[in-house]
Amino acid sequence: MPIVTGMPIIEARDVFFGYDDGPAILKGVSAAIGEGEFIGLIGQNGSGKTTLAKNFNGLLKPTSGVVRVNGRDTKTHSIPVIARTVGFVFQNPDHQIFCSTVREELAFGPVNMGKSPETTRELVQDAMERFKIEKYADFPPAILGFGLRRKVSLAAVYAMRPRVMILDEPVTGLDWKSAMELMEALANLNRFGHTIILITHDMRVIAEFTRRCIVLREGGIAADGPTREVLADFDMLEKNRLRPPEIVQLSDKLIGRGLKEHVFSAGEFLEKYRREAG
Ligand SMILES: Nc1ncnc2c1ncn2[C@@H]1O[C@H](COP(=O)(O)OP(=O)(O)OP(=O)(O)O)[C@@H](O)[C@H]1O
Ligand SMILES: [Mg+2]
Repeated sequence: MPIVTGMPIIEARDVFFGYDDGPAILKGVSAAIGEGEFIGLIGQNGSGKTTLAKNFNGLLKPTSGVVRVNGRDTKTHSIPVIARTVGFVFQNPDHQIFCSTVREELAFGPVNMGKSPETTRELVQDAMERFKIEKYADFPPAILGFGLRRKVSLAAVYAMRPRVMILDEPVTGLDWKSAMELMEALANLNRFGHTIILITHDMRVIAEFTRRCIVLREGGIAADGPTREVLADFDMLEKNRLRPPEIVQLSDKLIGRGLKEHVFSAGEFLEKYRREAG
């Protein structure tokens, strides 16, 4: 487990979780998330990513074990209290959007948190600018395209300024350009100190944006470490039916033939190959 200095913003200790009376879905997960991290949560379908993420923000409570958010046990604090620290952006934006304009949608959280009208206006404005949706402020979210609805759902969570944002498959269904715009906006939030936990099946996005990667397998942690180590462990990935991004696979074949080590993006490839191949 990576070493997190200082108090973790999220700490899971030996978490077991099952839905209702069903079987255990999470089976002894322990992890500490430090403030300011950019983490990828990966694993094949059904491995428990969404279930773990919902345990991280108190939407679900462990059957046994403990999740602490900012030191608070999620079992003894209400969902709204925990959600102020850990915002969760659902996989399907339509499960989250329900107001009649974008502006109202973004104001909903801050108003519920008891923010003044003036502060709410500022938070909404800032969130619209950050996700470049100002021109849709007075549009009903329902008439916007999928990519924009995704941005609205993200901006609505960001408007509450949670210290941690968990995003469940935020780039699924987006074209590459929209996906990169969204990821750049998240990278920017991370630069300003927000902790980001990203669930995705897109290994290229994991390689290019995250610094730490947690791999889930059947409700347990199969690997947890720096993204550059996790994505270079081809055997472990294969056991989890995951494939490293093509650029990492290519660089693997070129080690000793112009490259000394794996690279994780096309830009890094060009830079290192040129330098090392002379
Ligand atoms: N509401 C629920 N009630 C009962 N079982 C559920 C519920 N939600 C998920 N499960 C089960 O829990 C397991 C883990 O599901 P989860 O959605 O957490 O996986 P995931 O890694 O997010 O998968 P995916 O990549 O498909 O989104 C699966 O076996 C799933 O069928
Ligand atoms: Mg899921």
